[in-house]
Amino acid sequence: MTTASDSWGKRYQDALMNTFGAPKLVLTKGEGCHVWDEAGNRYLDLLGGIAVNALGHGHPALVAAVTEQLQTLGHISNFFASAPQIVLAEKLLSLVGATDGRVFFSNSGTEANEAAFKLTRRTGRSHLVAMAGSFHGRTMGALALTSKEAYRAPFEPLPGEVTFVPYGDADALAAAVADQTAAIVIEPIQGEAGVVLPPEDFLAAARRIADEHGALLWLDEVQSGMGRTGRWLASAPSGVTPDVVTLAKGLGGGFPIGATIGLGRAATLFEPGNHGTTFGGNPVACAAALAVISTIEDEGLLDHATVLGQKLRDGLRADPRVTDVTGEGLLVGVVLAEAKAVEVTAAALEAGFIVNNATPDRIRLAPPLVLTTDDADAFLSAWPTILDKAFS
Ligand SMILES: Cc1ncc(COP(=O)(O)O)c(C=O)c1O
Repeated sequence: MTTASDSWGKRYQDALMNTFGAPKLVLTKGEGCHVWDEAGNRYLDLLGGIAVNALGHGHPALVAAVTEQLQTLGHISNFFASAPQIVLAEKLLSLVGATDGRVFFSNSGTEANEAAFKLTRRTGRSHLVAMAGSFHGRTMGALALTSKEAYRAPFEPLPGEVTFVPYGDADALAAAVADQTAAIVIEPIQGEAGVVLPPEDFLAAARRIADEHGALLWLDEVQSGMGRTGRWLASAPSGVTPDVVTLAKGLGGGFPIGATIGLGRAATLFEPGNHGTTFGGNPVACAAALAVISTIEDEGLLDHATVLGQKLRDGLRADPRVTDVTGEGLLVGVVLAEAKAVEVTAAALEAGFIVNNATPDRIRLAPPLVLTTDDADAFLSAWPTILDKAFS
């Protein structure tokens, strides 16, 4: 069994709060799509810091942008503005196709959602409709919209009046939304649930239902956005224009940044004093995000993610111990014939591949968008042996 060495393991336990359980490894360096542990073992990173390391590890464009910005202007207060913040906001608005949007920057996915939650309150309404199976983060507001009982129960009462409906069930959604509903919040792909997609017409139905009741449609693209699915937004194929989009994870390529985008009437719901953050809009984080976006554009990584994602899905589903393969682009869910995801993750790690057991029977892959064909081939050739070990 691969584990962090005893000395680091003990020091970790003695120094860090026990929120994540014992770490599997202590990692010491990363380069491209690989990371190394303290013993010098190399792993192909097929999880990318959970859909974060879009450009892999140590990408020269990201390193240069962060270094240069830190040398030029590292941090300022929000009494002042910086060019990277403004240029990034403009760029994000153009990527989501907003003609009349505004952006609020923060530092993580949960903060992007917390801001969006507060934004919905500015409609004067407080009822929200969220999805069963959802994950929106761990702050109290984001947690209130997260369905998993085990995450919620220790922290109740949570803010808000939230109704959960089955993911993808347009009839249930229509029944739950009322004229007091402030917003419907949906992940276009549920990542933490194991890469689960709704029926094709669900987002369009949600848009229609929101409009019928004057509610906002808020899409949480924290995990699915920023090129992960081969498109800037996973919701793009639906043709739906949301009122609110939240982004984080891949946006900074490993540098912490979150963004809450309001479109149309949602763009101007916040007034001075309604919300804030010391670090949000930090010039270095914004420069990192701009470098991520321009590298995705320059290196054609959206198309690359589509092609490699298809290759992975085709290869993984060829094994009879896999009953389904889900996702778009390089957000991949593998449904196993048995609840062996923990065993598969452990066997993969032993074989030098980092994957994630999102649920007992689902493996999630969210590798860097710069994953090479050779990397994908290496994993696909190891896959049957990994499954042999896990299912033995
Ligand atoms: C859809 C979604 N929203 C929000 C979050 C929370 O993001 P963070 O962990 O950066 O707070 C996550 C994290 O997994 C997520 O997948």
